[in-house]
Amino acid sequence: MIQKQCKVISNKLIAKDYYELVFNWESSFNPKPGQFLTLRPQGLPLLRRPFAFSSFKDNRAAIIYKTVGKATKGFSSLTEKDSISILGPLGSGFDLPKKRPVLIAGGIGLGPMLFTAIDFAERGLSPILVIGARDKSFIPKLELGKGVEVVIATDDGSLGFKGNVTQCLKTEYNNILNNCEILCCGPHIMLKACHELALEYDIECQVSMEEMMACAVGACYGCVVETTHQEKYKRVCKDGPVFNSREIVWI
Ligand SMILES: Cc1cc2nc3c(=O)[nH]c(=O)nc-3n(C[C@H](O)[C@H](O)[C@H](O)COP(=O)(O)OP(=O)(O)OC[C@H]3O[C@@H](n4cnc5c(N)ncnc54)[C@H](O)[C@@H]3O)c2cc1C
Ligand code: FES
Repeated sequence: MIQKQCKVISNKLIAKDYYELVFNWESSFNPKPGQFLTLRPQGLPLLRRPFAFSSFKDNRAAIIYKTVGKATKGFSSLTEKDSISILGPLGSGFDLPKKRPVLIAGGIGLGPMLFTAIDFAERGLSPILVIGARDKSFIPKLELGKGVEVVIATDDGSLGFKGNVTQCLKTEYNNILNNCEILCCGPHIMLKACHELALEYDIECQVSMEEMMACAVGACYGCVVETTHQEKYKRVCKDGPVFNSREIVWI
């Protein structure tokens, strides 16, 4: 983990409310899929904000962020003239699956699952990437290269399957569900549904959890989730954010 100033390479609107921020990342600490960083809000008295890496290649890294509040709205005005203060890579990444990976992304989970899909495709794991959104305006144009099968599900049916990601998988990919591993990132309700799907089909499921964070380095215990472990509470920033879904006490 390092803290450094990184030069912004580009910062573009890629879908409704979603930006991709690309920055220079020259370090011996190479981010792996599922890991995250924290970014200091520009000129605002706010805590650093956590974001998952959405790509890393040739000394360039990126995040995909949704503008929701003061910090993220501030990030949307960053340009190539700016530098940003980054701390990372943080947390654990996804483990390599033992079976064909089915990657599920919802909302702000898109970035880490794109990174994972490209990495797994390069390893010859033939990932299926299922992206869920309310409607097509939230789905960016994707250039994933070879080896990734992309499936889109929208609540209103404006693009791809009409319905949510788990309904989509059960309807269109039922034959694969018995013999795959799920890896997912997105809203809590989607992660819980993915966990239940994994239980139903008796397959493994890795979930990338999201909690509000203060220090993001394991010191404050402000980001804990309840688990089935003896010590009960685990820190999302240090022990996660990726967990086996069976470790989590789902509420
Ligand atoms: C490990 C991790 C990885 C993340 N990766 C991404 C990512 O790749 N892309 C992305 O867009 N966002 C990601 N987030 C969420 C992101 O950190 C928040 O959206 C951001 O901090 C909001 O800052 P803000 O000042 O703009 O909004 P705030 O003013 O802080 O909040 C605006 C609204 O968003 C809600 N909110 C803020 N933070 C979170 C959070 N962590 N979880 C749920 N709701 C939140 C607040 O309750 C409020 O309603 C991640 C969070 C974590 C913990
Ligand atoms: S945010 Fe401080 S321990 Fe996780």
